[in-house]
Amino acid sequence: MRISVPKETAPRERRVALTPDAITKLAKAGHAITVERGAGATSFIADSEFEKAGATLADGAAVYAGAEVVARVQKPSADEVARIPEGALLVSLMQPGSDRTIIDALAARRITTLGLELVPRITRAQSMDVLSSQATVSGYKAVLLAASHCAKFLPALTTAAGSIRPAQAFILGAGVAGLQAIATARRLGAVVSAFDVRAAAAEQVKSLGASFVGPAPAQNAEAAGGYARAQSDDEQARTLEAIGAHIVSQDLVVSTAQIPGRTAPRLITADMVRAMKPGSVIVDLAAETGGNCELTQLGETLDIGGVTLIGAANLPSTVPFHASQMFARNVQTLLTHLTAKEGAALVVDIADEITAAMAMVHGADVRRT
Ligand code: NAI
Repeated sequence: MRISVPKETAPRERRVALTPDAITKLAKAGHAITVERGAGATSFIADSEFEKAGATLADGAAVYAGAEVVARVQKPSADEVARIPEGALLVSLMQPGSDRTIIDALAARRITTLGLELVPRITRAQSMDVLSSQATVSGYKAVLLAASHCAKFLPALTTAAGSIRPAQAFILGAGVAGLQAIATARRLGAVVSAFDVRAAAAEQVKSLGASFVGPAPAQNAEAAGGYARAQSDDEQARTLEAIGAHIVSQDLVVSTAQIPGRTAPRLITADMVRAMKPGSVIVDLAAETGGNCELTQLGETLDIGGVTLIGAANLPSTVPFHASQMFARNVQTLLTHLTAKEGAALVVDIADEITAAMAMVHGADVRRT
């Protein structure tokens, strides 16, 4: 099949949907890949690397000429939708639940659209899961951001100028991003604690050498697909009490708690922030879904009485080389899944469990907005 990779146009998006190693595999499988000239520039991948991998470079409208599949990182603009050939397949992050105008425009052009956020959380789809791969990047980068704003060293140090005690790091939500944050903070030498509502997470926290704080997680806090369910008022009150008591002694806080399809749970109140030590840092990875902290503002770094509060936006884009590489591997696996067993033809089987879960538009049919 003919696969096109346009340059991303969303503000501050530095990733590219397919990287040379993924393109090499797709080209070997018989697919023809066209990459927009300069598409890898912001992730430090030269055009010549794409060519070496077997892609053809193109500019402007030629990028889309004859495309059967368009692979993107971010949802296309209306202008970009108009350039995708009618009847093609689009594979992209689509921000389900946001404005449906683009979805309607895609359906009007019969562009079957797979929203990468909707990948089902089943073992078979794990290697196609951009939420997981990009959450790994976010968890890592969040700790580096927190460390760089923190007034303290993270590791314990013994020097001629005295001994330094290790920083205390607290990770809220121990899913994919949270576990990576725990591992990163541990590697930097901090003493790490964490909290989650899912029972499985408690074991994973301990296996990474962090302590588990807060009320014991409930067995039934895990909903479909390994995600958390929303908490009852009583559970929420107990959680806030435990977090409030613990957070005052922390130097770094990375919050990652999310509930799919809902605003993020509020876990850090304004009073808690004001009770923290000046010089400490909170990185709120849930900022895009409303924030775990009451004071978070998306994309802003605030100073609340000496406490730095970072409303992190699109952190994967700030590690563009490896974030793109992981994203591209996910897309390549998905495209391989959509290829006929014999030959290199595109097969969109809407009865397939993975395709069905991800299809927001199938032909002219809007299945999900
Ligand atoms: P997520 O991004 O939706 O949420 C992050 C974390 O926040 C989760 O661990 C969740 O339990 C936690 N959380 C939600 N409400 C909370 C609250 N009130 N207080 C504290 N923590 C709260 O989830 P993520 O990280 O994408 O995945 C969660 C789990 O899903 C993974 O740990 C894994 O078990 C499973 N998973 C399965 C996959 C597969 O089988 N293909 C792929 C990826 C994840």
